[in-house]
Amino acid sequence: MPAIHPAATFVRDRNYQLIDAGHSYGRDENPGYAIAENVLAELEGAPSALLFSSGMAAAMAVVQSLQPGDQIVAPRVMYWGLRNWLTRFCKQWGLGLDLFDINDPDALARTVSRVKPKLVWIETPCNPTWDVIDIAAASEIAHAAGAWLAVDSTVATPVLTQPISHGADIVMHSATKYLNGHCDLVAGALATAKEDELWERICEVRSHAGAILGSMDAWLLQRGMRTLFLRVHKASESALALAEHFEGHAGLEAVNYPGLPGHPGHQIASRQMKGGFGGMLSIRVKGGAEGALNLAKRCEVFTRATSLGGVESLVEHRYSIEGEGSPIPKDLLRLSIGIECVDDLIADLEQALQ
Ligand SMILES: Cc1ncc(COP(=O)(O)O)c(C=O)c1O
Repeated sequence: MPAIHPAATFVRDRNYQLIDAGHSYGRDENPGYAIAENVLAELEGAPSALLFSSGMAAAMAVVQSLQPGDQIVAPRVMYWGLRNWLTRFCKQWGLGLDLFDINDPDALARTVSRVKPKLVWIETPCNPTWDVIDIAAASEIAHAAGAWLAVDSTVATPVLTQPISHGADIVMHSATKYLNGHCDLVAGALATAKEDELWERICEVRSHAGAILGSMDAWLLQRGMRTLFLRVHKASESALALAEHFEGHAGLEAVNYPGLPGHPGHQIASRQMKGGFGGMLSIRVKGGAEGALNLAKRCEVFTRATSLGGVESLVEHRYSIEGEGSPIPKDLLRLSIGIECVDDLIADLEQALQ
């Protein structure tokens, strides 16, 4: 098994030369990052990847690599924590932010040609409607305007989608989720298509701004990644089985899952995602917020908790988390499907819907 490297600093010899493969100080890097970074880079088809202390820190390293006055274009529906933080941070740091509507097929092109951004940020499938954005089309639009395209691929994982092969410049992961897979650490990661000027600035941000991962967490992350393919394929299979079982259920208004042929993102997902449609789905429960919260209350196998991508299935009322002003319908429950027996998951929701 690989070693854990707790060193915060590294010895120099008597001639003052670094002796441990050039390692100098724990904020610049940790030898224990190499396994997870190299595996991720290889899975994403990237020359290089970097670990961060959280998914948010990874995303913010991209944003902090821009210059004051630069413009960012991002979807209105995306991980709410990042959308909210971007809205505040951009105002404070003199960056422009324009949000586009993913359900309007021309909105991204229109927004990009209007604001001439430096960065186009997308997330696909996006939280928590699991709408799918065409990465290749977004990359053409971004590149024609001279912008970089960054893709939050947390939910797809490199098992199902490799954004760089569709034209993305940067791929971001909340490694807290599927990459680790066990809900026992918070981490983030970036992978790059090119070791270009943007990547150099991102490397500098990681080393100077200090959002680094602890050595024990880096070790746990590489251990979690060993079962990434097994977990993601199992979660995707079970999510599809659940979506197919509950579609049209008398107690539900809707089931959102890109693997269902009726989902608006199904055609793009079928081209872009290989080997499954992911382990995330949402259900809209009859009876509004009360109906949804009652269903969550009665769950025995699904655990009521935020986050996603772990081996245990989670149920979450997003509106309660996001609060007043959230665009998420109050009757929506987000389900993160784990690796339990799918019959137990179906039976749990069936009894909770009684
Ligand atoms: C899609 C997505 N991106 C980014 C993040 C932020 O990652 P972290 O919580 O690791 O900072 C999350 C967290 O929920 C997420 O779901």
